[in-house]
Formats: sequence, structure tokens, C-alpha cells
Amino acid sequence: MDSAYAELRSQFESIFGKTDDSVRIIRAPGRVNLIGEHTDYNDGLVMPMAIEPEVRIACRARSDGRISIASTAFPGELANFSISEKIQRQEKSWSNYMRGPAAELIEAGIPLVGMDALYANTLPVGSGLSSSAAIEVGTAQALLTLSGNSADASRIAVLCQKAEHEYALVPCGIMDQMIVAGGQAGRAMLLDCRDLSRQFVPIESRDLRVVIVNSMVHHELTGGEYARRRQQCEAGVAHFKKSNPSVRALRDVTIEQLQGAKEQLPQIVFRRCRHVITEITRTAKAAEHLQSRYYHEVGDLMVQSHQSLRDDYEVSVPELDYLVEQAMTVKGVYGARMTGGGFGGCIVALVQPAAVETLAGHLSSTYQKKFGKNPAVYVTTATAGAGVAD
Ligand code: GLA
Repeated sequence: MDSAYAELRSQFESIFGKTDDSVRIIRAPGRVNLIGEHTDYNDGLVMPMAIEPEVRIACRARSDGRISIASTAFPGELANFSISEKIQRQEKSWSNYMRGPAAELIEAGIPLVGMDALYANTLPVGSGLSSSAAIEVGTAQALLTLSGNSADASRIAVLCQKAEHEYALVPCGIMDQMIVAGGQAGRAMLLDCRDLSRQFVPIESRDLRVVIVNSMVHHELTGGEYARRRQQCEAGVAHFKKSNPSVRALRDVTIEQLQGAKEQLPQIVFRRCRHVITEITRTAKAAEHLQSRYYHEVGDLMVQSHQSLRDDYEVSVPELDYLVEQAMTVKGVYGARMTGGGFGGCIVALVQPAAVETLAGHLSSTYQKKFGKNPAVYVTTATAGAGVAD
């Protein structure tokens, strides 16, 4: 790791020059969601953990209020803007993920200094492991650190979520930014997205591995399907609000109330709501079982979650269904499901340590045969949230 950071420093100096001022390294992890999918924007529960693949930022303060950004993903390109003018979104620019957090921190009244920064990323982009939240939260951490400020994880997360809405134009929930900003090593976070309260549940490394398998199908949340799911959930809320004005979100609706309204709701809205309401219950149960180390029970809930996302929420794709199905044929796999927004990206599996190799081998060969693509396999442990690494 130190050598990767040393390499990043030297790349930074070759772009921005060498001075006596110190260069800091900020890291921001990706995340995988164990269970609780498409529940965050319904005031529900989610249970993600932060993972090792990460965004790394080498950064140094500037005294002229300018922000100058380079990325190892776009060699030779520099994005420039100033903190003393309103920071504009730019059509189709990768720098929107940095412009947004800078703009929101300023808007929140936090005094910033300018910076030179070089970004590097070991997270696959567009794979549902939250590379965008990692860039946003990392940017916020870099700017806070260089200006001698700090903010707690929830504040950073809320500002970065706003940045994603306004600068990346993705109407995301709060899960990704919260876990990237506030993750803890060795533990998953059970997050209540209504009040941002959280509990941490150990992932015992002697019992478990969390294996992520990338279908290599690129996912795109700006494509409209994500926003459409949100609207369908809101249509459900509007129905229940008519008879009970205290209903604010699907979190406030029980499965019995939903069943009772089956005839009055469009069938598609009914199914979307059924996914969300049952998923919130599954997430609460999964956290209890994980805490009690009842891994078979956690695994069963993960598989049910996948089925509900596939059939009721319709955000899976055949590649993810196949990976889940195949993973479940391997002895020692407790459970598997698609993870993240869907329409591609990754599955996550909860696995006995001794079964990891067999699982990786089995998925690589069967997936390759069926879809002609090589799935990337990551064996992860829960890491800490974003912060200064060096
Ligand atoms: C994306 C969003 C999250 C969440 C998930 C689905 O990752 O950014 O806020 O809604 O999809 O659970």
C-alpha cells in the first residue's frame, strides 16, 4: 500500500511540480451492500460495508483559491475551477464528481482553500461498487483536511448526496455516501435511512468471506430506470397518504396494509411496493441473524432479496441471475444476491472461507461458457470509511 501511495505522490509531483508544501493522501473506499436494496430512498434499512478497492487522492493546498484536478484515468487532462466563483456543472465532464462536493461544502458555509489533486482508483467504475460516492466523499475529505476543517460522517454524506443529485444528476439515496464516509473495519453498517442512526454488526473473518463477482455488464443509473423506480414508490406512498396523512414513505406501510390495497393499486406499483416493504423486514432480520452468527438464515434472506429484486422490482439482468444461481450450487455458500442499483454490476455472496476458491473457479468457468465474459472476483473484508491515509 505504501508503495502505491509513494507512486501516486511521485505522479502528483510530475504533474503539479515539487514544492516544500506537504502532499496528503486521502483514501475513500468503495462499498458493497449485503442486503437492503432500493430501500434507502424509502426511509428504510440498508446493510452495506466498506471494501478495500478505493479511490486515492494525492492533494496539496493552494493559496489562490483555485482547484486543479488530474486523474490517472484521464492522462493529460486537467480540470480547473475556482472556489471564489459559483462552481458550475459541466456537461459530460468527469470533474462534476469533484465540482459537486466543493460547491456543497461552500454552500454549507465551510471555508475552503484551493487544491491541486491527483485521483487514482482501484474500484471498477460502473460496477455498482460506488466509485462515484467514493470520489465525492474523498473530495470532501481532501478539501476539509487541507482547509483544517472536519465534519462528521452524516454531514459529509448528506452534502455529497446533494452533490450527486445536482452535479451528477443521479437521484440516489443516502446509503453509498454514508457507508463510504462512515464505514468501520471488520463490521457491516445497519443504517436507518430515516434518521441516519446506525449500528455496526461484526463480520467474523474466522467464519465468513464476502465475495463480490463482477458480471462485467456496465450499469448506468442515469438511464432513467432508477428514477422511474423512485416515482413508482412515490405513487404507492401517495395512495396510502390519502387515508393516513402521517404516511411519509413506504417505511410507514405494513405488508398487511399493502395486501389490503392490492385491488386499488396499479399492479406494477403494488409489486414495487411489495419489494420495498418486504426488503426492509428482511434487512432487519438479516442484521439480527448476522449478529447471532446464524449464517444460513442470513444467506436465505439474501436469496429472497435477489428474487424480489428480480421479480417484483425488475432491476436484475440474466447475467446477475445466472451468477446467483450458480453461486448457490457451491457447497459452503450461504447466500448470494445482486448488489447495488442493478441493471448490471455485481453479485455479493456470503461464503465459508474454505469455499472461496471453489466458488471463484466455478463461477469463472460457467459464466465464461454461458456469456463469453470473464467475471472479476474480489474477496473482501470490511474496511474503515474515508480518511487521511498518509
Ligand atoms: C444506488 C444508489 C443508492 C441505492 C442503491 C439501491 O447504489 O446510489 O442510493 O438506492 O442504488 O439500493
